[in-house]
Amino acid sequence: MIGKQLSKEIAYFYKSLTVEKKDFYLPFPELLQSKLLVIERRNGKIAGIAGISKKKSLFLVVKNEYQNQKIGQRLTRKVIDHAKKRKYHHITLNVFQYNVKAIHIYRKFGFTVLFTNLTSSRENFFMMLPLDFRGSLYKIYFLIAHRLRLIVKHVPLEHFLYRIRRLANKIRKIFLG
Ligand SMILES: CC(C)(COP(=O)(O)OP(=O)(O)OC[C@H]1O[C@@H](n2cnc3c(N)ncnc32)[C@H](O)[C@@H]1OP(=O)(O)O)[C@@H](O)C(=O)NCCC(=O)NCCS
Repeated sequence: MIGKQLSKEIAYFYKSLTVEKKDFYLPFPELLQSKLLVIERRNGKIAGIAGISKKKSLFLVVKNEYQNQKIGQRLTRKVIDHAKKRKYHHITLNVFQYNVKAIHIYRKFGFTVLFTNLTSSRENFFMMLPLDFRGSLYKIYFLIAHRLRLIVKHVPLEHFLYRIRRLANKIRKIFLG
């Protein structure tokens, strides 16, 4: 639970974001409802924030004037450490494909791209970091679920049902003659 004073500070930080905001697409109310939140300060003021949202996605933002001072990486490390302590199985995130700097950081910490999504007409990567064995199983599950979604999306439904009926008929013939 985020206290009143911290909420105010975060609100001030959020309002003061300028160009950083276009790549940091977490709405303010969702930021306050995050499951995990870590902060880096410089001169007593919030310089960057990261965490895991209610929708279980990693978010990360560093104020423009504090960028390229490794704050983004310190925040990412903190989120991973806290997630491990809380026994999370994995961390996922979405990042725009052009956001090479953020992707560089995520890869450095072991995240891999599982697939590409198209949201609001821009391509983004769905990345994941398994934190334990169950997390690795989730990775396989995400990959299979994505493949299935693609199949259902690209194969016309009648054709899909026709193929299923044919397969069911074949199985029936084999077992029941
Ligand atoms: C992404 C972001 C959080 C990075 O924060 P930061 O504090 O500037 O990052 P750091 O200083 O910790 O690390 C930057 C790293 O990126 C590298 N880098 C910088 N520019 C780069 C580029 N154009 N391409 C690839 N890597 C780049 C740096 O070399 C450094 O890596 P290194 O330590 O291995 O040399 C910050 O740019 C930001 O807030 N962006 C807007 C919001 C955003 O995009 N959030 C992520 C949404 S998913």
